[in-house]
Amino acid sequence: MTVFSASSTAGAFVTAAERARVAFAKAHGSEPTVIVQAPGRVNLIGEHTDYNDGFVLPMALPFATAIALTPNDTCRIEVSSEGFADACFSIEDPLAAEGWSRYVHGTAQLVAADGYPATGWTGCIATDIPTGASLSSSAALEVATGLATVTAARGSISSIELAKIAQRVENDLLGLPSGIMDQLASAACTAGCAVRIDCRDLSLTDVVLPSDATVIILDTGTRRKLLESEYAARQDACHTAATTIGVASLRDARLNDLDTITDDRVRRRARHVVTANRRVSDAVHAMQSGDTARLGELMSESHRSLRDDFEVTGPALDAIVTLAESIDGCHGARMTGGGFAGCAVALVDNDAVDHFCQSVLDHFNAPDTQPATEPTQVWPVTPSAGAHIVTDQTSRQDSVHRD
Ligand code: GLA
Repeated sequence: MTVFSASSTAGAFVTAAERARVAFAKAHGSEPTVIVQAPGRVNLIGEHTDYNDGFVLPMALPFATAIALTPNDTCRIEVSSEGFADACFSIEDPLAAEGWSRYVHGTAQLVAADGYPATGWTGCIATDIPTGASLSSSAALEVATGLATVTAARGSISSIELAKIAQRVENDLLGLPSGIMDQLASAACTAGCAVRIDCRDLSLTDVVLPSDATVIILDTGTRRKLLESEYAARQDACHTAATTIGVASLRDARLNDLDTITDDRVRRRARHVVTANRRVSDAVHAMQSGDTARLGELMSESHRSLRDDFEVTGPALDAIVTLAESIDGCHGARMTGGGFAGCAVALVDNDAVDHFCQSVLDHFNAPDTQPATEPTQVWPVTPSAGAHIVTDQTSRQDSVHRD
């Protein structure tokens, strides 16, 4: 088991962008024309609210997916990725039945279908984002691909449009029912800040994190594959609740309204969403007033709501959150992302970070009922920039912008 920190291993840490560049140079004997990258995200608070038109508060991670490429002036994409088989397809071809490259293919296809400048390219992908750990590795791949494809064609696209295309790849092409949070966080975050997203009108508000505490990601090492059906079941319950109350979405419901829901399970699902939206507002207020303790309390309250009302935590996430909360200097902790497995997030006093990380590594073991398939890992992270161009020799700049 290891503590991994991009900042503490400076010197030894080679970024995904650099690895993609080196892979490209090795494969093609020349430097890439374009390098882009898009980060993973951790959501600080506001879970399962995005598809209810609600509020979320993610931040971008220092871990990214990078693509180094050269436009090839055809409609073909030829791509290789560390640890995966090479892929080659025409943007217009139907998507393959399965495989990692469908994320690349689907995104390039929708970028072109929506009328953005799009051209084929030859490239190499590298990533620092663990897959299946609830840190949005697929959103990062989609967003990086969209930016790569537009930049290769010397075009530009707003981060919101980029995120919407990436979400449609999941929903419409791959049949995965995700909300917009992951893609928008990857596309639009600002370094140094979390972003409050209003998932109804997609307005973004940057919120600075407390300077006296550090966000730490706790990877339980568990991975879950059944999330999609559970995720769809939660969406159905939220939809049933909104219909019963008579509102367009649970964003418009108040706690009093929930009394009209007779089904206990549906009522608890709705209660989570209504209270989660309030917690995001309270968390933004706590951050703006420098109240680190309150932010931590809200994170722990959020975990309890996800565990008891929304029922998307599971034994490993519950165990690591309980352990984190018991360690000195931890203000609060919660699962992050879709749930059931993967990562939790904790807020820890700066001067307690080393002790905290070591304690988690020393004492966490995934429960027998949910064994880990990956090692436990602990990552102190700083809020990082959203998708951007690292290198562009195509003679244009600024191909992603917020408005
Ligand atoms: C997954 C989805 C997001 C969001 C979270 C839960 O990460 O991709 O859209 O719904 O779960 O908050």
